[in-house]
Amino acid sequence: MPNPTSAASHHPSARAGSHDDPRDRGGDRQPLLIVNGLHKYFPIRGGLFNRIVGHVHAVENLSFVVMKGETLGIVGESGCGKSTLARLLMQLLKRDSGELIFDGDAVGERSGISLRELRQNMQMVFQDSSSSLNPRLPVVDTIAYGPRVHGTKRTDAKEAARKLLDDVGLRADQFAARYPHELSGGQKQRVNIARALALDPRLLILDEAVSALDKSVEAQVLKLLRELKHHFGLTYVFISHDLHVVRYVSDRVLVMYLGEIVEIGPADEVYGNPKHPYTRALLDSQLSMDPGQRVTEAPLAGDPPNPVDPPAGCRFRTRCPFAESVCERISPTLGDARGRQAHAAACHMHDPASGHGRTGNPPLGTPQETRLL
Ligand SMILES: Nc1ncnc2c1ncn2[C@@H]1O[C@H](COP(=O)(O)OP(=O)(O)OP(=O)(O)O)[C@@H](O)[C@H]1O
Ligand code: SF4
Ligand SMILES: [Mg+2]
Repeated sequence: MPNPTSAASHHPSARAGSHDDPRDRGGDRQPLLIVNGLHKYFPIRGGLFNRIVGHVHAVENLSFVVMKGETLGIVGESGCGKSTLARLLMQLLKRDSGELIFDGDAVGERSGISLRELRQNMQMVFQDSSSSLNPRLPVVDTIAYGPRVHGTKRTDAKEAARKLLDDVGLRADQFAARYPHELSGGQKQRVNIARALALDPRLLILDEAVSALDKSVEAQVLKLLRELKHHFGLTYVFISHDLHVVRYVSDRVLVMYLGEIVEIGPADEVYGNPKHPYTRALLDSQLSMDPGQRVTEAPLAGDPPNPVDPPAGCRFRTRCPFAESVCERISPTLGDARGRQAHAAACHMHDPASGHGRTGNPPLGTPQETRLL
């Protein structure tokens, strides 16, 4: 396999970071993406007349930023809203309310960035490597498709697609004419990455992009993603249920539970010194699967509550051993977690004014100290 690093460095758009990107506005201190109060409920229909009988609270009041050049990892149990969030960011789903700002420009407003321009700046790679590849097109045409739609001449788009194949470690002379069914899962995912890069985006959203690959292929694709990020000056939002992988790739980590952010901070901080009982439980669950660190009790038992009717107050209270009456009555807030170094958790134990009995002394110090219900 050719060295993707050296191939990437020949690409005309290879950049080491936002400083070298003529599209950059506001410099490194201006987040690439600001998400403010994002909400998405899905209606549920039922009964004889197919009326709306409830709503899935999929994403609830999410606010965070994605800084230029960073990898923001997003973790949480199945169904907590990770893919919904990704699709909202990509404008593949319409948000109920909230605000998105891309490098200073509002998204979805007349005066802001157009959808077309946003698509050029922001691309997504999905878990299912086959779904985004047209089975009837050779992969070079799939990769060239986006630039063609955006007005690039056919020969130029194809030439750039061949370069991108080299960049993702697939020799164009061997792979350009192949159809998706002639590729392995790992090779298909490399083509998907090339396709996502074809419009020269600044932000890639990777939703379980390596989760379907076996471990050795996963490691190769993760290495490739690191190299591409450096050479193209990319920013990543990396979604995965695999805590090891998220730690490996992320600068900062955002933990979701039932549609809400429960913790956000630098990866080392969140993993080394988790503040929220749910994050601690997730980390302990991972340890409990490691035979060398076997624990006797399951750290995180039971399923999350129904997102159609989430618990009032703190959504985690039905599984939290530290829940007190204040947790039933009042929903804890995350506070301001906008800086690269900020570490915040939405838990009353971290709010001195909350009235929680363990304020200032939350028992979350070391792995396996906490046993959840
Ligand atoms: N189109 C839809 N209509 C109704 N409910 C939906 C729809 N899409 C997602 N949901 C619900 O929204 C919630 C969040 O789903 P989402 O796919 O975002 O979770 P996830 O965190 O990506 O899970 P996983 O780790 O399994 O991929 C779930 O309860 C899901 O059933
Ligand atoms: S707010 Fe209460 S229930 Fe929620 S995580 Fe903190 S202690 Fe547990
Ligand atoms: Mg998902």
